[in-house]
Amino acid sequence: MCGIVGYIGEKQAGPILLNCLSWLECRGYDSCGIAVAGGDLTVYKNAVRVKALEETLPPGIKGTAGIGHTRWATHGEPSQVNAHPHGDCAGKIVVVHNGVINNFQKLRQQLSGEGHSFISETDTEVIPHLVEKYYDGDLAKAVAIALDEVVGSYAIIVMMAGEPGLVAARKDSPLIIGIGDRENYIASDVPAVLDYTNRVIYLEDDDIGVITADDVKVTRQGAGVDRKRHRILWSMEDARKGGYGHFMLKEIHEQPKVIRDTIQAYLLAEESTEDLFGPGDTYRASMLLLACGTSYHAAMIGKYLLEELFGTPVRTELASEFNYHGYNIAVDRAIVITQSGETADVLKAMKRLTGAGCPVTAITNVMGSTASRMAQRVVYTRAGPEISVAATKSFIAQLMALYWLALLYSKIDISQRDNLVTKMRQLPGKVQQVLDNDAVILKCAGQLVGYDHTFFVGRGINFPVAMEGALKLKEISYIHAEGYAAGELKHGTFALLGREAPVVAVVAQDDTYEAMLTGIKEIKARHSPVIALVAEGDETVGELADTVITVPQTDAIFSPVVNTVALQLLAYYTAKQRGCPIDFPRNLAKSVTVD
Ligand code: F6R
Repeated sequence: MCGIVGYIGEKQAGPILLNCLSWLECRGYDSCGIAVAGGDLTVYKNAVRVKALEETLPPGIKGTAGIGHTRWATHGEPSQVNAHPHGDCAGKIVVVHNGVINNFQKLRQQLSGEGHSFISETDTEVIPHLVEKYYDGDLAKAVAIALDEVVGSYAIIVMMAGEPGLVAARKDSPLIIGIGDRENYIASDVPAVLDYTNRVIYLEDDDIGVITADDVKVTRQGAGVDRKRHRILWSMEDARKGGYGHFMLKEIHEQPKVIRDTIQAYLLAEESTEDLFGPGDTYRASMLLLACGTSYHAAMIGKYLLEELFGTPVRTELASEFNYHGYNIAVDRAIVITQSGETADVLKAMKRLTGAGCPVTAITNVMGSTASRMAQRVVYTRAGPEISVAATKSFIAQLMALYWLALLYSKIDISQRDNLVTKMRQLPGKVQQVLDNDAVILKCAGQLVGYDHTFFVGRGINFPVAMEGALKLKEISYIHAEGYAAGELKHGTFALLGREAPVVAVVAQDDTYEAMLTGIKEIKARHSPVIALVAEGDETVGELADTVITVPQTDAIFSPVVNTVALQLLAYYTAKQRGCPIDFPRNLAKSVTVD
């Protein structure tokens, strides 16, 4: 999705904007641009990566204020003319925008009729023209009037030649202000400014901020408001590659620490009591788990866990589907799971749930994110910043939060619970074993690399693991991969099996084991090569499968953790051997802020 940045201070804005933009690359983008104000405005943009823009920047772009953008095309193809910033007729106003203007066609027609001319296909271009139309000496006022006419979602920064400040505004799209020393920053994401400051203000919907080098003023419907300043605890070091070839590999290797930190925080800190999730009754009544993508797979695993340990039914929903259901949505408690806390489908579902009077708990990784501010209760995962587009450590951290919830409120007896907590505390070591055993996984990646189609199968609590393994493989290696409940393959998909379609089977030591063996035999009978993930000590599966990846023994409920880590590595090594841009896969974005 698009990313936006702004700078105003005493330094040259160009290099700062480009550095901030480089931290937004993981959001996914197809073009980028900057505008710098030094007397006149200079705009430089193209359908290239940030590095390429930097290398071709003409000398002499000078100015101590500026705005920048990474664009993920929605209206109009990726091209120089459609890249942001966009300007008005007189070349005095420039705008960067994240979001979608739903009524842009109507506004464009109106403005064209009034003599404004447009050069791009974007929805965004109406904004600088509207601001131009309403400008009478006060930029913030013109922006406010312009936005009154706009229907849609936006985070914008507006800059005007000769005006002393940048104007920022948001609605349904995140925007923060980074507070510096005689300089200030604006960005769609916190990591963009962390090289310069860790003090931030989160703008709320309908806020308009006027940002100068020395001051930040926020207003809402014309009246001044005080927005709290937050100190961000992540450092940029947390977000650097630290010697790994890719962020994804670094993040996969951080998982033992993530598990340790999460358990430590939930076990020892103030959150070890009911303060963490709040009163247990609503969780044990009718509960809904809601998320998208990888986080949805965590929700699916959560359903197995909670049903098993609470003994009550739990519903899971894809947020993107939930928003189109007409039925009665009343549940006693909803948990939304979202790494970024900014996924538009999730936020829309949260609005719907809150509107229906349902208390919502958000499990999120990003402090201050929109979901964290909308929820009645927030449980933070302890994954640290996740830069790679493909979610890895945040997923494992989400599982830890769900394990904790399940154990906190389960009806199992205390000795059984203590036993599970002990096993949970062994997980960092078990995950480390998987990471240390990567030579076999690397070999399996060599077997997958030449195929176009794959299937991942699992049963029970490892069915979502198969879905997650398939999602990881397809998103970073571009190999078509489908995650299936192992028992479902025979209901149609068998038609696609054969020597050209390998199957990755996740075999757990639980009550699904025998059925998985039968399934593997059926798959082998159709000549598909089988890579099986098995627990240490298993002698049987090796006789059926072509290749075996062994993971450490754990209690069955924790098997998704070790199995997922092995599948993350499998996807990583396959994508690497295919020469794919692992951290920034084509067409994808880290936080999906449009629905
Ligand atoms: C896949 C991936 C996505 C996200 C999904 C939801 O690796 O990262 O599927 O899980 O876009 O994002 P969040 O968790 O930020 O709501």
